[in-house]
Amino acid sequence: MERLTVAVPPAYDVVVGVGALGAVADAVGARRTVAVVSQPGVLAAHGDPVLAAVAATGARVVVTPIADGEDAKSLATVEALTREWAAAGLLRGDAVVALGGGVVGDTAGFAAAVYHRGVPVVQCPTTLLAQVDAAIGGKTAVNLPEGKNLVGAFHQPVAVLADVATLATLPEREFRAGLGEVAKYALMDVGPDSTAVAALLDARCDAVLARDPAALADLVARCAAIKVRVVSDDPEERTGLRATLNYGHTLAHALETVGHHDLHHGEAVAVGLVFAGALAAALGRIPDPAAAHHRDLVAALGLPTVAPGLPAADLLAVMHRDKKAHGGLTFVLRGPDGLTAVDDPPAPALDAAFAAVGIDA
Ligand SMILES: NC(=O)c1ccc[n+]([C@@H]2O[C@H](COP(=O)([O-])OP(=O)(O)OC[C@H]3O[C@@H](n4cnc5c(N)ncnc54)[C@H](O)[C@@H]3O)[C@@H](O)[C@H]2O)c1
Repeated sequence: MERLTVAVPPAYDVVVGVGALGAVADAVGARRTVAVVSQPGVLAAHGDPVLAAVAATGARVVVTPIADGEDAKSLATVEALTREWAAAGLLRGDAVVALGGGVVGDTAGFAAAVYHRGVPVVQCPTTLLAQVDAAIGGKTAVNLPEGKNLVGAFHQPVAVLADVATLATLPEREFRAGLGEVAKYALMDVGPDSTAVAALLDARCDAVLARDPAALADLVARCAAIKVRVVSDDPEERTGLRATLNYGHTLAHALETVGHHDLHHGEAVAVGLVFAGALAAALGRIPDPAAAHHRDLVAALGLPTVAPGLPAADLLAVMHRDKKAHGGLTFVLRGPDGLTAVDDPPAPALDAAFAAVGIDA
């Protein structure tokens, strides 16, 4: 079992491995009431041992399921959850356990951030995407019709338990989508601090795609280590370092919004990475083979490299509203100094990058 520490006040551990959920009782500690937020499918597959372990601490366990899908990541769900918690008498000294993917983690995390001005939350991610990314770092948010993650808060969990055994039941498309965030780490993970995500993918791609537990434990730990390092150095996205985790995400969020979430988040990130590589190459920041490597890696992981059919003008309009934008268009791009924010790239470079992902400018 790998244990990584996020060095924020107060520090907390990310536990990665087969059986990490066995640490849930310790992570919850002594509470009067514990609200477990999950989804019906996740509860059916992985709920029983978690509920039993929490109940064994002597806590009263309240299960508050939410619906599936990105639409459930809404203020309406937050209202429903917090009203259920209030009706169940959940107090500030109690705790929330979020058992599920990023939708559960983001929604339960945000509800926990605002309920009683903050109750502790234990993140128990059960998708690859949430284990390598969403559950770590305390970013919580829900969507508005105007865009993704527009209402949120920083609310660090008290622990993250990434049990790779849960990934065995993940639908294939969800598993592949998680590999979109893995590809992000592989492509941003250059330089002296590299945890060699790309090297692991090169050496054990087949084992990863076959969901070999040992390969997944290694992969999740290496990706999580990058997130833990970045979050520890820039917990609230003030220095620009944490913004680098949004590599590929500017276009990805626009693809999700304009495409009405036809692409899953990780699939949109995959296309966004190809776009970011092409944009960096068009701006002369990286050589063409480095951009080609973006496309090759994404394709090797069985992820989409193009997103035809969405109008560039609509995507640009959404990207202008991106939280990371300073009034214009901002992209995180690779370059001679590593990953940095690039404002307002010229139209020909944008056109080339759109063309690289099959979108007519
Ligand atoms: N907070 C952050 O820093 C951050 C980072 C990246 C992504 N996100 C957010 O994460 C969300 C996407 O999360 P996701 O990709 O995990 O999708 P998701 O939460 O929608 O889960 C995908 C599907 O898999 C099911 N599922 C989950 N675990 C399962 C398991 N072990 N076995 C079987 N089925 C299982 C879920 O019920 C759901 O139907 C997006 O809303 C995105 O914005 C947040």
